[in-house]
Amino acid sequence: MPAVEIKPGIFWIGVNDRTTDLFEGIWPITDEGVTYNSYLINDEKKVIIDLSKAIKSDVFFDNVTELIELSRLDYIVINHMEPDHTGVFQMFRKIAPHVTILGTAKTKEMLKNFYGITENVRAIEDGETLSLGKYQLKFFNTPFVHWPETMMTLEEKTGILFSCDGFGSYGALQGSIFDDQCENIDFYKREALRYYVNIVGKFSGPVLKAIEKLPAEEVKVVAPSHGLVWRKFPAEIISLYRKWAEYASGSGDIGVTLLYGSMYGNTEIMMNAVAQGISSEGVPVEIFDVARTHTSYMLPSLWTKAGVMVGAPTYEGACFPPMVHAVSMAIRKRVLNKKLTIFGSYGWSGGALRELKRIVEPGKWELLDSYVFLGKPDSEDLKKGEEFGRNFARALKEQA
Ligand code: FEO
Repeated sequence: MPAVEIKPGIFWIGVNDRTTDLFEGIWPITDEGVTYNSYLINDEKKVIIDLSKAIKSDVFFDNVTELIELSRLDYIVINHMEPDHTGVFQMFRKIAPHVTILGTAKTKEMLKNFYGITENVRAIEDGETLSLGKYQLKFFNTPFVHWPETMMTLEEKTGILFSCDGFGSYGALQGSIFDDQCENIDFYKREALRYYVNIVGKFSGPVLKAIEKLPAEEVKVVAPSHGLVWRKFPAEIISLYRKWAEYASGSGDIGVTLLYGSMYGNTEIMMNAVAQGISSEGVPVEIFDVARTHTSYMLPSLWTKAGVMVGAPTYEGACFPPMVHAVSMAIRKRVLNKKLTIFGSYGWSGGALRELKRIVEPGKWELLDSYVFLGKPDSEDLKKGEEFGRNFARALKEQA
């Protein structure tokens, strides 16, 4: 996408990525895409804020050189060192070695470790300002949103907050970079939540600290390095991030994430009965087949709902392996304090329940009930299953 002017002399110069399949090599974005937003301020001093992954570098450099000669660039501000924002660094350094790089003290260390760059690097102080002429930048250390070196940069005259990963989302741009020109804002909000839980959610404490630290009344535009630029409703994306971060220490909304896996359909038959029981109580339930769904798509439901119901058969005396992966990832991503019930089929000896209990222990998931049955469930078993689901839904409502 060609450069887009956000305010006079301040441009989006990002890269719209529709070809990467896995973000961080883990999280699927084949259908959704992603952006690496970079910004250029063409003032008396000329600055680029955050760069791009080393993909479509020709597009990135074309965008820069359409606006300024690289020999006239004064600074690169690095809010975050992860290579989706710094991948073009080595090429940049070769063609514009004179440019001064600004970042936190930790960024300075990382530049050496990641790219061998030690010259023309200046560590800025928390709260330091930098006059560019008409515009002025102010830097806020916001460690662990998402890595320890992370900071955010506010242009004080326009109130544009360059927040890098903070307030970002998956989703390639669909013609416009701005929230008020986007016809499909729900897509970006959904993808912002998935991005949040996949990438940033583990660091929810630092996210809340960063939100408290930022001068909310001065922020007029939120310009993250992934996804839309929020110029009409900047407070909305900040408020969504605050809400999502608060789930980390709460129990979640009334609702059930029903994770199931089934080898020959027996646990799946029971899953439908159990789901009927939950729904009959008016409690929302979101169902995922763990063998066919990437954890990326399960995590938003797990993050936001109070209840987790796991339906898994015993496999080789232990739990169905795709379920082990799904639940382990949830614990790894600090999905905490859930109410849990477990059901599943076994053939001759159990084992799934024992393994699941061990996996969820560090996440402080409270096991309320379990229901295992031999082989294929008969009509009596299914009645019990429906009641099992109903009881869980009632328990969630009572504990809300
Ligand atoms: Fe978008 Fe943590 O990198």
